[in-house]
Amino acid sequence: MIEPTILAIESSCDDTSAAVIRGGKVLSNIVTTQAVHVQYGGVVPELASRAHQQNIIPVVHEALRTANVNKSELNAVAFTRGPGLLGALLVGCSFAKSFAMGLGIPLIEVNHMQAHILAHFIEDPKPQFPFLCLTVSGGHTQIVLVKDHLDMEIIGQTTDDAVGEAFDKTAKMLGLPYPGGPMLDKKAALGNPDAFQFPVGNMPEYSFSFSGIKTSVLYFLRDRVKENPNFVEENINDICASVQKTLIKTLLKKLKLAAKDLGINEIAIAGGVSANSGLRQTLQDYAVKYKWNVYIPAFQYCTDNAAMIAMAAHFQYLKGDFTDQYVSPEPRLKF
Ligand code: KG4
Ligand code: ZN
Repeated sequence: MIEPTILAIESSCDDTSAAVIRGGKVLSNIVTTQAVHVQYGGVVPELASRAHQQNIIPVVHEALRTANVNKSELNAVAFTRGPGLLGALLVGCSFAKSFAMGLGIPLIEVNHMQAHILAHFIEDPKPQFPFLCLTVSGGHTQIVLVKDHLDMEIIGQTTDDAVGEAFDKTAKMLGLPYPGGPMLDKKAALGNPDAFQFPVGNMPEYSFSFSGIKTSVLYFLRDRVKENPNFVEENINDICASVQKTLIKTLLKKLKLAAKDLGINEIAIAGGVSANSGLRQTLQDYAVKYKWNVYIPAFQYCTDNAAMIAMAAHFQYLKGDFTDQYVSPEPRLKF
């Protein structure tokens, strides 16, 4: 059994992260979030790239130090090739290429969305193949049929906004600071989810649409604030709880349909939005109701991190799936 030691780098959005994995066991996972975006209420791509440049060397250094691994012990360097912000990806990609070249070791390119799913193999219990994964992040909303570690098929996805975007944009409309999703989650926990009604998307098969709910929240707030200028302040928790309930309902309606059609009861969630407490709880409830075995990642492996990139790289290493020095980032990378 090969026990490769791999350094992995993640820089697709606004988190600079590095991790070390040995024989499939994560030894370190250092994540630096970028505070610079808070004042703008969202990620500013150019500022993200600059912050990645500042962070990358200290973060890699810290990942090696925490893992107690010398760079001479590394067997490969992995990085996120996409999807993500081009300038941000370029920093991780260029660093990984130079580092691998300097050490004379192979380079592994990882798909960020596949890695979110493979985060389930960092800790026990691990899902059994085939399983369905609802991958929900700031840029993606997908139902993926996972047949093997590196054999995945997207069977449904959003036709417009990602669900993370719907969380973030609603939070912004309510005047909550960036990053909006986790903030909305906190307020929702204190509110009544049945206080207000918003439409649940009605898309064919396993497709999603989140632009409709975003617009309905916008008009709802505009009309209510006209009647009462303090409407948002007075009802913030109830609004958050009601919007969150609608988003979760929309997601799980399609997941339930896919699980039934395919006869699969191994169900996982992944990506930043899988940190949402309402989604986690509702999925647990569904597990009981529909006899699903559900898999929910630990919080640290939901949002962007290099441990998941390292996990993907481990499986790719065993398969001999390496790339070369001509590789460049792909902001719209598919699988
Ligand atoms: O996977 P991720 O860290 O980055 C991308 O690949 O996009 O996901 C970030 C998204 C953001 O939209 C963020 O608001 C959302 O995940 N998010 C949450 C929560 N934590 C992160 N959304 C709802 N509730 C949360 N607790
Ligand atoms: Zn992500």
